[in-house]
Amino acid sequence: MARNKIALIGAGMIGGTLAHLVGLKELGDAVLFDIAADPAKGKSLDLMQSGTVEGFDSDLKGTDDYADIAGADVCIVTAGVPRKPGMSRDDLLEINLKVMKAVGEGIKTHAPDAFVICITNPLDAMVWALREFSGLPHEKVVGMAGVLDSARFRLFLAQEFNVSVEDVTAFVLGGHGDTMVPVLEYSTVAGIPVPDLIKMGWSTQEKMDAIVDRTRKGGGEIVGLLGNGSAYYAPASSAIAMADSYLKDKRRLLPAAAWLSGEYGESGMYVGVPIVIGQNGVEKIVEIDLGDEAKKNFGVSVDAVKELMDACKKLDGSLG
Ligand code: APR
Repeated sequence: MARNKIALIGAGMIGGTLAHLVGLKELGDAVLFDIAADPAKGKSLDLMQSGTVEGFDSDLKGTDDYADIAGADVCIVTAGVPRKPGMSRDDLLEINLKVMKAVGEGIKTHAPDAFVICITNPLDAMVWALREFSGLPHEKVVGMAGVLDSARFRLFLAQEFNVSVEDVTAFVLGGHGDTMVPVLEYSTVAGIPVPDLIKMGWSTQEKMDAIVDRTRKGGGEIVGLLGNGSAYYAPASSAIAMADSYLKDKRRLLPAAAWLSGEYGESGMYVGVPIVIGQNGVEKIVEIDLGDEAKKNFGVSVDAVKELMDACKKLDGSLG
């Protein structure tokens, strides 16, 4: 049986970490595509040499030629620039929108059957634009944010409850940004909902509110500490979990930015919701019953994403 081929579009900090995980988890071979070809080639060589020690045989290839992604089963997109000091949100949007156009066309031409996972920020608007530019079926294009935001939420909850992260499940919905919606009612320790744990005296509502707030600002906390760049280990692990569910048809239920057509009362946009990922991509969008506050917060988040989409439409007339 042929090995899976995973195209990593963008071979920066997240791209390199993705390639490492592809090797360590023996998910298949990877192409590291970047406009900066030599660093991508250097990273690929370094990673393959780590494979000699770790015992993995993944073929990792750096390139700046889209033809090399031909036939990819999965494309994970991190290409773009991060927001730098002095750069406005609109500047970032303009640059990354152009990158999405180039990437979308590359995927459309060379890997139209791939499952595409977008990580580039601002996430919900970029995954929408990438889908528009690529023309791929909506169920084959998703955005990675919810798994990462939920991972942060789960870690903080596990630390507060002093239990293993393995036993903590949590959901973060909505757009990736300050308006994301961590949902306490659907967060559990081994099936016990957080509100029940509060009643049992395991923690307090005040502490939960602080954790929700820290989760919302989770990316910024790391940017502030790193001083140069943004998080890459947890984002890479999160995207790999999604790729793994697709490649192995695991049908995991994960929060991710998915195309809505009526679910949660919204249509024609991407935003973070629970989805089942299997061999066809998005197999199902799960509509959970949100409480009044979560519903209100989800609405605020949806509006913030729509605002970004409108800004994209003004920048590129080809976006309907
Ligand atoms: N095509 C391909 N690669 C590109 C393009 C392009 N048009 N433009 C930029 N790149 C490459 C850069 O050369 C760089 O190697 O994208 C890579 C981005 O890597 P980093 O700057 O290291 O960023 P990273 O930390 O990996 O994050 C990537 O994910 O979380 C988001 O906000 C983050 O949008 C950012 C993205």
